[in-house]
Order: sequence, then structure tokens, then C-alpha cells
Amino acid sequence: MKSNNLTIIGMQWGDEGKGKVVDYFSRQADLAVRFGGGANAGHTVVTDKGKFVLHLLPTGILHPGVRCFIGGGVVCDPAGLTDELETVRSKGIETGNRLLIDYSTHLVLPHHKAWDKYLEGLDHKKAISTTLRGIGPTYADKAERIGIIAGDLLDSSRLRNRIENFINRKNAQLTAIGDAKFLSHDYLYNYLMPYAERWADMIGDVTSELKDAIDSNKRILFEGAQGALLDIGLGTYPYVTSSSTNIGGLFSGLGVPPGSQGEVLGVMKAYTTRVGNGPFPSELTDSIGEQIRQKGNEFGSTTGRPRRTGWLDLAAVKRAAYMSGVDGLIVTKLDVLDGFDMLNVCVAHEIGKQQYDFPPMHSGFMENATPVYRTLPGWKESTSDCRDQNKLPAHAIEYILFIEQMIGRPVKYISTGSHTESFIKKT
Ligand code: IMP
Repeated sequence: MKSNNLTIIGMQWGDEGKGKVVDYFSRQADLAVRFGGGANAGHTVVTDKGKFVLHLLPTGILHPGVRCFIGGGVVCDPAGLTDELETVRSKGIETGNRLLIDYSTHLVLPHHKAWDKYLEGLDHKKAISTTLRGIGPTYADKAERIGIIAGDLLDSSRLRNRIENFINRKNAQLTAIGDAKFLSHDYLYNYLMPYAERWADMIGDVTSELKDAIDSNKRILFEGAQGALLDIGLGTYPYVTSSSTNIGGLFSGLGVPPGSQGEVLGVMKAYTTRVGNGPFPSELTDSIGEQIRQKGNEFGSTTGRPRRTGWLDLAAVKRAAYMSGVDGLIVTKLDVLDGFDMLNVCVAHEIGKQQYDFPPMHSGFMENATPVYRTLPGWKESTSDCRDQNKLPAHAIEYILFIEQMIGRPVKYISTGSHTESFIKKT
């Protein structure tokens, strides 16, 4: 299938700098589409109009000519989305009728967030350390087939029936949260009705619109959220999110056929970070890790939590790149590594006496993995805001070439700062 489309997927545990990347590419797009995840994502974009942290809106919303779709694979918090639209509008960006939410998008409701918090509070040692945005509980209700979807908002008697069914089925769980309002049909109905009125024109058939766009050769940007290693099925389970963050999530979340994805670019930081609990073989808990955290401003854009930091885990990226069939890579935050004498890169996980350069993701293995490092020389020169590959220090180029060699895919872009223009198109 010939296609003008571009798909951006995270290659690590999220926070790879996809916000800046999708902002860069959405300038050339007709459509920007989110296919999975919810307000757990936090895409940070710095533009002339200021800094934006988008959780649910596709980044294309910042560009007037771009239509934006939220696909059925997304879980959408109506209150959060409304706030986000208002913030964007208050900074002078007209959103008009540019946003379409699919009928089948599941709604994140107040009790989902309360239940997320309740579960996380049960046992700190076993907690996933979620973003508390109600993501897991909403996807769980989807799987249990009792969730409430955007399309239900369009018919008030159907909405009442769905709420009744939901409360009957979930009674025990809602009781456990300990807040009587969650058991009230009227509470939920009255909570949702204002959105039903506000959103009526924004709810529709994303799959059909995408079909038309693909048939007429429109340029579509598919924005992945989170990263490959947080995939519900293929990541470091159970320390994962609750959606398919790899390429499969695009097809199941949007109803478009294979081939629609166009070029697939995998975004990876020049090092590794992770928020929340779970295995992280190349983690640095020393002063180098702290230096990376401070210099890279590694604090969660959704929760403000300090991110765990570590050396680049190329073995994990190799598997991520394979799973989504990436055509090329985008390396972000290269400038954060300026000034080190040497840099370690994890090329395999050692478990028992065996080394895996395409390591199993599941936590039972990864928790016991020791990183196998290759040490590369660092560089002292600044790469900050560098826009020309010929001006990169020799050792920085060596670092990039090593990534290409290990992953077997070209690095197509390098990001060297938070501003959209601090971007090198590598030849
Ligand atoms: P949840 O998605 O809120 O259920 O959180 C599950 C796990 O995924 C936690 O470890 C979160 O920190 C992590 N997570 C979810 N979304 C993101 C993201 O956008 N970036 C980085 N980590 C994330």
C-alpha cells in the first residue's frame, strides 16, 4: 500500500521525547491521530506560543491546518480533555471543529481514578506506581464489556441503561472505594450529561474518516503514546501500562489495515529512563544517574515524579524496534550526554550464564538480568541545539553509528535540545 503516512512509536519506557518529534512532523500532516493510551501520556512541546503539555489531544492540535482524531483504542477522560482544549484555546490556538473522538473510545470516569488510587495504596511494595489517571481500571472495564463509551453520550436513554448495567455489575468494587456517590446512577448521569451536550459534534466514526483520508492520499501522522517496553502484552509485565503501545495498537485501536502506518520511526533517548516500579537493568543509582536526571530534566510531565535514569539499553531497544518494524530511529536528548569521559551502552542482558542480545521482556527474567556493557568514549564539546550533523563531535557521531550498527536500522534524526528547531536530519 502506497502511503504518505508516518507513525511515531516510543522504543523505551515512554518519555522518549515524542512530543517534540510529533510536533515537528505534524507541521507537514493533514491529520494527527492518537491510537492508544490516555491522559497517562504527557507530550511536552515548546513552541513560540509557550510550553504545552498535552495528555490526550494529538500534538497536531497546535497547528491550525491539522485535523485531530482520538481513536477507539484511547481511553479518554472527559474532564481532562475539556481542560486541555480550554488551555490550548486560552493560548490563542483555535480548535474549531478540528477534533473528532471515535464512538468507541472508552471514557475514564471519576471512580476509575479512585479505584486506581485504591489499588496502588493496597501494597506499596507490589504497586505498579501508575500515573493514577484511571487507565488500568478503564481498560479493565473495556475488557469486561461494561465500560461507557463516547458513543453512549449521544443517546440519553442508552446512557442511563449503560450506567445501570455498570453499577449493578461493579457494585462490590464501587462499595470498596468507600464513596457513596460512585453507587449513584444519578451522580454518574449528571456528571456525564454536560459532556454529552458539549461533545455531540465531536463524536463520530474515526475509522471511516481515516479510510477516506487514506483513499485520498492525505498525510496522516499516527502518534504513539508511552513506549514499547510498557506494552500490556509485550512489555515488562506486570510493570506496564494497560494498552498496546507497539504498532499492533495502531491497527486494533483505529480499524485501519496493515500498510496504513506508512513509515515507522522509533523514538529513543540517548540514555534510558523509567518512571514507576519494574526492572531496569542499566539503571544508575549513583551521581551519574543524578547528573543525567538534572541535566535531562527527568521529572514526569504527567505526575512530576523524578524519573529513574540509566545507560542506554540497546538490547531492549533492539527488541522494541523489531516488534514495531521500525524503518528508522530518532535519537533524542543527545546533548544530555555532553561532558562525560566515557559512556556505557548495554548490548545484552545476562541471566544466569546466558547472554541475550534480544532479551525477554517479562519481569521474571529482567529482574534478574545484569547488563553487559560496551564502553564508548564520551565527548567534551557541547552538542546543545546543534542543527548540523557535520558540527557534531567525532565521538558523538561514533555513538550514533554504534546505535545504527547494533539495531540494524538507520538513525534518521537526532534531537539536541527542547526547541522544535534543535533537530538534525541525518543523511
Ligand atoms: P498507568 O499507565 O498510569 O497505569 O501506569 C502504568 C505504568 O506505566 C507506570 O509505571 C507509569 O509510570 C507508566 N507510564 C504510563 N504512561 C507513561 C508515559 O507516558 N511515560 C512514561 N511512563 C508511563
